[in-house]
Amino acid sequence: MDRPFTLPAGFLLGTATAATQIEGGDYRSNWYRWAQAGGTKDGMGPDTACDHWNRWEEDLSLITGLNSHTYRLGLDWARIEPEPGVFDSSACAHYREELRALCDAGVRPLVTLYHFAHPEWFEAAGGWTRPEAVTDWLRFVARMLDELGEYVTDWITINEPNVYLIFAHVFGEWPPGEQRLRHFFRGARHMVRAHRNAYALIHEHARGRNTHAQVGVAHHLRVFDPVRPVLRDRLACRVTSYLSQDMFLRNMTGRNGRWADFLGVNYYSRDMVRFSANPAAGFSQRSVADGAPVNDLGWEIYPEGLYRIVRALYRRYALPVFITENGTCDREDRFRSRFLYDHLFQVSRLISEGVPVQRYYYWSLTDNFEWAEGNEPRFGLYEIDYSTQTRIARQSAGLFAEVARCRAVTEDTIHRYLTP
Ligand code: FCB
Repeated sequence: MDRPFTLPAGFLLGTATAATQIEGGDYRSNWYRWAQAGGTKDGMGPDTACDHWNRWEEDLSLITGLNSHTYRLGLDWARIEPEPGVFDSSACAHYREELRALCDAGVRPLVTLYHFAHPEWFEAAGGWTRPEAVTDWLRFVARMLDELGEYVTDWITINEPNVYLIFAHVFGEWPPGEQRLRHFFRGARHMVRAHRNAYALIHEHARGRNTHAQVGVAHHLRVFDPVRPVLRDRLACRVTSYLSQDMFLRNMTGRNGRWADFLGVNYYSRDMVRFSANPAAGFSQRSVADGAPVNDLGWEIYPEGLYRIVRALYRRYALPVFITENGTCDREDRFRSRFLYDHLFQVSRLISEGVPVQRYYYWSLTDNFEWAEGNEPRFGLYEIDYSTQTRIARQSAGLFAEVARCRAVTEDTIHRYLTP
């Protein structure tokens, strides 16, 4: 039985995007070359995407149409700093204009400084595997604070460092497409250092402006459950969890939130884990729970996981929580409304138990370029017809707009959107 629920008065709802996935016109990043070389499933690359760079005003009207209180967006570092130390002032002005318009519309921006993509020159020099990566990226961060600090107080330094490093340096499915565990660990070291330095820099900058900043990482967190209730599978869960997420969490949060003001949680799914004797596979083999509901990409839909993850996280770190991404891939919009309701219900449950979840960002506003998967997966509250770049509201967009308007799910909303 679906029950109505309310969210607290100050709770913020919005959607999340990333520059490379929506803007189009990106010819200078690691992802452009990768797609050109056939690295995406459907051959599509970030050069097309949703043409948001030219259609941002239209997209802003979608954002306000959803009654969003906040919006998470990324910056295209490759476009902004096409050569080391050379900044494109018109690109900066463009972001300023977009951010000003968001603020004027009463939508609070949350800006991501690194989201899987970087300039080609950075890639050619070795990406995040070199210690110099930290100074390169911090130069960009410092410049963004000067350029955009007037409009932004809330920052995500790095999106899903774990996912980026695993796909780029362990699975080899993302640029630069290598399988070198050593580079995974090196990259992790540098991203941790980069985050900690950016955290200090952003706060220092805010103090200079007499404002308050909020800084965190958007962590990709999954539930890992043992396939069988045996020690080996449980240990495999522990190892998987440590290497793929806890290591990052611990080193990027610190005791008493030394390097984070909030915990950013990107939550999508759960993996069942079985012990494997293969060290190259991290001693584990992952699968989807038998008979579990899955989305178009085969990811298990497991709302309770959001509750489990956030509760455990809060016990460990006692920091406010932002759900910085949560969403599903559902081309026909058959189960997206149910997904939204079920996950928001878990949020309300956490809040009623005293866990300070303060924000929820649905991934994503529109369909977009889903990295190596290309344009096929459809995560949007708005569908994109790529042949015309038309935005078409899915039914679940109506549900989202209702929830954001009332900060609640009412009987009427349940009746309209969730009753089969
Ligand atoms: C997350 C990424 C985001 C998007 C969603 C579906 O892992 O942060 O860019 O691709 O998955």
